[in-house]
Parts: sequence; structure tokens; C-alpha cells
Amino acid sequence: MTVKIGLLGFGTVASGIPFLLKENTEKIQQAAQEEIEIAKVLVRDDAEKERLEAAGHAYHFVTNVDEILADDEIQIVVELMGRIEPAKTFISRALEAGKHVVTANKDLLAVHGSELRGLATKHGVALYYEAAVAGGIPILRTLSNSFVSDKVTRVLGVLNGTSNFMMTKMVDEGWTYEEALKTAQELGYAESDPTNDVEGIDAAYKAVILSQFAFGMTIDFDNVEHKGISKISPDDVAVAQELGYVIKLVGDIRETASGLSAEVSPTFLPKAHPLASVNGVMNAVFMESIGIGQSMYYGPGAGQKPTAASVTADIIRIVRRLQDQTVGKAFNEFSRPLQLAAPDDVRSEYYFSIVAPDKTGTLLQLAEMFNAEEISFKQILQQASDGKQARLVIVTHSMSKTQLENVTAKLAAAGDFTLQNTFKVLGE
Ligand code: HSE
Repeated sequence: MTVKIGLLGFGTVASGIPFLLKENTEKIQQAAQEEIEIAKVLVRDDAEKERLEAAGHAYHFVTNVDEILADDEIQIVVELMGRIEPAKTFISRALEAGKHVVTANKDLLAVHGSELRGLATKHGVALYYEAAVAGGIPILRTLSNSFVSDKVTRVLGVLNGTSNFMMTKMVDEGWTYEEALKTAQELGYAESDPTNDVEGIDAAYKAVILSQFAFGMTIDFDNVEHKGISKISPDDVAVAQELGYVIKLVGDIRETASGLSAEVSPTFLPKAHPLASVNGVMNAVFMESIGIGQSMYYGPGAGQKPTAASVTADIIRIVRRLQDQTVGKAFNEFSRPLQLAAPDDVRSEYYFSIVAPDKTGTLLQLAEMFNAEEISFKQILQQASDGKQARLVIVTHSMSKTQLENVTAKLAAAGDFTLQNTFKVLGE
């Protein structure tokens, strides 16, 4: 028997699937115990169909999704269109039609995952999405399978290749944010609207999905605080280096005494931290757990073949489950009620960059403000004074989100101080 699949979309990732099916036929057939055939491919319009046919792609291209959804021979639908609509409607209809679904769509899963997983359960079909987080790193199945005996306490991740490429250029070569963005766009990493990548939104979507697999909790996207890299200045980069850190956009999910906290923010990483050497477009997920201890999973977060490898692994898994008649099982079976961390429990060291009058008493005033919130200084540096204004850099000892909020409000109210940036600092 041959298992037939329908592809929704034939962009970069989708066109990598035939490569693997062809180049790795023997192993795939052994694992799947069936042949896998791409039966139909949905494209936008006739123009795209003609362009793909002219480029030598000999698939049965269709422009109406019903030709796939109403085809009883197609058992698996692979959605690679991205974004929310029409992907959400097509996936919902496929699940309702009793078809198994593979997708790499993190935006959709982060925002509507519960609804779609509910539909899959209701109809006894599979919904797999290994490629949705860090495309080529097999992190979700690793969490579901290999971490089943372990308890994860913290997940730190470099989860966005575009912003990591930009940060690497800003740190290693002193590029400005604007120069780095322009090159990322020229190289095709960043979209023409790069908002999701540079503002931490894409990484926050991935943090939502990782929270489910690592902690069993479905956190709302709105509960993942996210701050991007667009406000990082060359001064921040230089001072980080001077103090022995590297700045990266880091997703941080941890379980505190009161519950789960998830955020994405520029973070000062000690140079010796394994995540500090994750450069360019590469991604990594660093985990702390009570059994394994510290472990890191590193690899390409995007790209044709890496992402197609994850998508194809999901397809093979479904085909095998069809064989074994175990196909209704959820991709992730770890589930607990969501409890969010209290801001008092979310603690970190912080970096403050403050412009203040260069005059007697300024430092005392600052010390009083921080002292009133019981925040202790770890390092202080005064830089770039023009005689009137100076830039003061403070790295604190561990403090809570509540203290951060309070001291930030006090600095704003004091008038004399301009808070340029606050970033999290990962302790040694
Ligand atoms: N735009 C993402 C990145 C890739 O730059 O990492 C897909 O998630």
C-alpha cells in the first residue's frame, strides 16, 4: 500500500521533502513500512502552477484546497503555507475530514494550538509539528520521549536565526542594528517586514510551544513578555563585551515556586555560557533538568533541508502509527493546569544603561533609588561624559520583576535620569 499525502504550499520547505523521499528511500521505507507519495500539491493560482511546472516539478498541482480535502485517498495533509489564515481553516477542515496533519506553523500553533489539538483529539487523528520550533533541531520529540522521566526546570533558547545572525554581526563586527538588518534582508533571512523576527515575536511563539512540551503547561502567547533587539545600541554591545558578556535574544522559560514564567528578551550571557557561542543563523535550546542536568541542543533553526527533515520525520511517524494502529495519540501527552509565576518570584540580574547629569550627588541619588527597592549593585561603570551628561551602567545582583518595575518607575519619575535600556543578565 502507498500512503498518499497532500501538500498545502510548495515553497522552500515543501520542495525539500521530495529530496529526502528520493535520497533516503530505503531508510524511510524501512521506518514507515509503506511507500509515501506526494499525491497533490496546493498552489496559489494558475500562474504559480505554470511556473512550477516549467521549472520541472511534475506534481499534480491544484489551486482549490477541496481537491485535497475531499480526496479520500489522501490520508495526511502537510501545511507549509505559514501565518494564520487560510492555514487555520485548511488545517481545521483537514482534521474534521479525518486527515492527519503535519505543520511547521508556529504562529498558528502558538495562538490557536489548543483549538486545533482539540479537533485532532475529537476526530482521532494526528497533529504533529516538530518543525515549528527551531526547524532543524529535533527538540519537541526529544522533550516528549527522552525527557519523559526527567523534570525540566528551565529552558533557555536562541530561537530566532534572523535576530541571532544580526546580533552576531553587531557583536563580532561592530555593525549597527540598521546595517545588520539590511544584510539579513539581502541574504533572505529577514522578511521585508522583519517585525516578528527582530521584536521577539517569532521566538515568543516558539516559547509557547516549548512550554507545553517541557512543562506541560499551555501558556497564552499574551503571557509571554517579549522584547526584541531593535533598541540595542553599539554602546550596549561594547559594554557587554567589556564586562565579559555577549548579548543575544534569548527565550527563557522557567518554573518558579508560584508557577511558570516565559519571556523573550535581549540577555547578557557570560562568555563561557554554551549559548554565548551559538552564532549566525544557528539556534540552540539549553535545558536544565533534575535528571540529565544541563544539556544543549544545537542546529539550524530554519532552511529548506533541515526543516523538511523534521516535517518528513513527522510524516513517517504518522505512517508508522497508521501501520501500528496507534495513530490517535497526541504529539505531546504532558499536560498540567497552567499556573503563572508571581512577578516576585521571577528573579534575575539586570543591566541598566542610564544617562544622567554628571554632577555631585547623581550617583548617591541613584544608589538611594535602588536601595529603596532593596536592589544591590554588582558592577557600576561611568562612561562617555561630555562634562554635562554621563552614561552610567549598572549591573545588579539578583532582583525580581516587581523590583524592576518599581525602580524603572522611580527613574522615570525622577526627571533627571533617562533610562536607555534594561536587559536581563544571566548569572555565572
Ligand atoms: N524566521 C525564523 C528565524 C525562521 O529567523 O529563525 C522560522 O522560524
